[in-house]
Amino acid sequence: MPGTHPALTAFRLAGLDLRNRYAVAPMTRVSATGDGRATEEMAAYYAAFAEGGFGLLITEGTYTDRAFAQGYLHQPGITDEAQAAAWRPVVDRAHAAGARVVLQLMHAGAVSQGNRFRDRAAAPSAVRPLGEQLAKYRGDGPWPVPMELTRRQIAEVVAGFAASAVRARETGFDGVEIHAANGYLLDQFLTPYTNLRTDEYGGGLPGRLRLVREVTAAVRAAAGPGFAVGVRFSQGKINDPAWRWPGGEGEAAEVFTTAADAGADYLHLAGSGRDWFPEGRTLPALARAATGLPVVANGALHREAVARRVLEEGHADLLAIGTGALADPDLPLRVAAGTAPTPFDPGVLEPLATLDNARTHAPA
Ligand SMILES: Cc1cc2nc3c(=O)[nH]c(=O)nc-3n(C[C@H](O)[C@H](O)[C@H](O)COP(=O)(O)O)c2cc1C
Repeated sequence: MPGTHPALTAFRLAGLDLRNRYAVAPMTRVSATGDGRATEEMAAYYAAFAEGGFGLLITEGTYTDRAFAQGYLHQPGITDEAQAAAWRPVVDRAHAAGARVVLQLMHAGAVSQGNRFRDRAAAPSAVRPLGEQLAKYRGDGPWPVPMELTRRQIAEVVAGFAASAVRARETGFDGVEIHAANGYLLDQFLTPYTNLRTDEYGGGLPGRLRLVREVTAAVRAAAGPGFAVGVRFSQGKINDPAWRWPGGEGEAAEVFTTAADAGADYLHLAGSGRDWFPEGRTLPALARAATGLPVVANGALHREAVARRVLEEGHADLLAIGTGALADPDLPLRVAAGTAPTPFDPGVLEPLATLDNARTHAPA
């Protein structure tokens, strides 16, 4: 019934009052300036979601250091004062329209395909990523073999996340989300076939989770209390969508409790909904049960009947909407009004996933 949908009820996430359960999923749009500053166009893009009723905006993945973190040309960063200041209009406009904003912190690792600071990518091990670079983010051909990060460089990765979280807080963001999903650096450490290390960052699951633990703890400590810290995980990767954690539910529980014990306020499961309601527990439900933390579910949840079930059956607390939000930046208002969602047009991300490209496809 319009107006009574469970996704439209308020929720308190790590001390943040959210007006409803709808979050915009993080989406890379490679539309920042060449030196990684957010633009007015980006502020208007994010403001549209806030004005369209979303309670929480999670930004696109934002690079965290001036070494190996950047993944894409025209990706935004938060590595200096100029980049931080450029995010302020995004934050201010979202706040003015009643939404909260969390900055997603991202290190691309081996799947970096555009980095103005370094000629080579760096990763847990010198393993060529599966598949090919993403054309919609200006990539072409196979990824090169990355170099193996030294322990000292790993410490710089951790410091980059922590310093970025501090800058995010000073900029006015309500929190940060650590990107440990989708095949990027933290997920490369977690994954046995991309992490062949024999030191304390490799080997069994605790070693492969060490970087997630260190980054989460460092971000938590640096950002201080009263600032939301989330961690996003997924099984599938941009370059290996079919990947599943080899240890099944036991591995999943260890992944989730590691982040929780290191100080995460919430967990976010990317793409968890492609196969909503398989046999047994869903990953978000497992994350909730294992940690007691609030959990954000994601994956085709613009479908209101599925969204209703996810919330009513207690799989998750919040719903992150990706492509459905691109199709309908005002999805929460539509659900309230009982209006059907607009089908997503993949053409808005072709040939590049940029914002100006999307505008040319926007309905008149
Ligand atoms: C254009 C585009 C860019 C994306 N960029 C990111 C990103 O920066 N960080 C991230 O964690 N996920 C990213 N994703 C994944 C989405 O957050 C989400 O998991 C995915 O779209 C599935 O959700 P949906 O079915 O609601 O679209 C991106 C997805 C799209 C379509």
